[in-house]
Amino acid sequence: MESRRKFVFRGLAGGFAAALTLVRPAGATEAAQGIFLAKTSSIPVGGGKIIKKKYVVTQPKKGVFRCFTAKCTHQGCTVASVSGRTINCPCHGSKFSISDGRVVSGPAERALPKKKISVKKGSIRLA
Ligand code: FES
Repeated sequence: MESRRKFVFRGLAGGFAAALTLVRPAGATEAAQGIFLAKTSSIPVGGGKIIKKKYVVTQPKKGVFRCFTAKCTHQGCTVASVSGRTINCPCHGSKFSISDGRVVSGPAERALPKKKISVKKGSIRLA
């Protein structure tokens, strides 16, 4: 009987936890959706801008915008500049393409993760 009670209780607790997961309000990453990043006019063509030390918004071609996380995939430093069509990490010199975030020169081996954005009425926002 005791073990049956435990079993029922565990089942209820598991169901409750699952229900909480389903109705959980938007988490931190979801809450970031729609956050304003930059005006399109502030992002140079062929360059980019680091936003709040968290994102890098680039404009590889006129009217084409990209966004990446600003955390270097090598050891986690925040990238510091965008120049020469690359996003540059100051810690060990990794460079990432402004077009797709791929590694142009290491020691990083993985691309900067992309972030989805929306561009409307001259504003760039996280999508
Ligand atoms: S942390 Fe960026 S190159 Fe090492």
